[in-house]
Amino acid sequence: MSVITSNFQAIAWHNNTLSLLDQRVLPHQHQVLTYSTAADVADAIRSMVVRGAPAIGIAAAYGYALDALAGRDLADAYRVLAESRPTAVNLFWALDRMTQAGTDAHQLVACAKAIHAEDIEANLRMGQFGASLLADNSQIYTHCNTGALATGGHGTALGIIRSGYQDGKVTHVYAGETRPWLQGARLTSWELMQDNIPVSLVCDGAAAQLFRQGNIHWLIVGADRIAANGDVANKIGTYSLAVLAKYHGIKVMVAAPSTTFDLTIRDGQQIPIEQRDGQEVTQLNGQAIAPEGCHAINPAFDVTPASLIDAIVTEHGIISPVNETTIAHNLLNTSA
Ligand code: MRU
Repeated sequence: MSVITSNFQAIAWHNNTLSLLDQRVLPHQHQVLTYSTAADVADAIRSMVVRGAPAIGIAAAYGYALDALAGRDLADAYRVLAESRPTAVNLFWALDRMTQAGTDAHQLVACAKAIHAEDIEANLRMGQFGASLLADNSQIYTHCNTGALATGGHGTALGIIRSGYQDGKVTHVYAGETRPWLQGARLTSWELMQDNIPVSLVCDGAAAQLFRQGNIHWLIVGADRIAANGDVANKIGTYSLAVLAKYHGIKVMVAAPSTTFDLTIRDGQQIPIEQRDGQEVTQLNGQAIAPEGCHAINPAFDVTPASLIDAIVTEHGIISPVNETTIAHNLLNTSA
């Protein structure tokens, strides 16, 4: 299986220390921060040094291992990491897997490394499955950042775009800027440009006009939590894009590893949606863009109903149509 290698590492483990590429200052600064406690890793997750559902899970696993190495209380490590961000279920999945690995520090480091390596492998598999759905000369619209920065490597939705480009099927990518954190403008365009994949950045509000022109074939996005019925929580704005895509006859693909599914909840209504500080909306880079004292709401995610999604791609294959039965079948198909 081939991969277009990224020339950066969002998450790295060397000499029992965790290094994170600070995603708050990309693409103009390349700053690597090092961590030695679970509490500091939790802060890094909360403050968006590291973001993206699979990457959050991997970072949390290493954070838990850091406290094990230092002989700190692992119940405290679990609690502080679990409280960092509420929506991406990969965080809780990774922490639960770490607790199941016991208390031996070396085994916990090995478990965190395995979680990291398995995520890359899952992305490469998703890349192949997802690319198989694309016709020649496909133009793709994507939202937020789902690439090597948001995962162990390669990416989920962006991994499919990378694989599709490598297969000669993707001719152009449109990246929505993704207010308020601008993951599309700052991170997705940067990742694609490094791989020489043709990309145009667009304001979020330009999507409808672009979709109406008829040049986009697929909307491909990632996910932070997928309910048993296929409802998908992802970056705020995904739901509007899926509605727009349906209206304009554009297909919708969601790419997510099995670690993003939460079969304990029936539908998307029960997915906890993170509400972030309104200042992220009223300010840009610390600079006020709204009147002093202006109130803002800032939900970080929304829920796209399964009925708007044509296919969900996991490391086990393609789920289409999307419903409780096809999801259960895909996730049980672990030999794939
Ligand atoms: O707030 P973020 O940047 O962590 O949100 C990220 C997303 O919503 C991604 O689309 C999702 O985590 C999938 S990343 C592979």
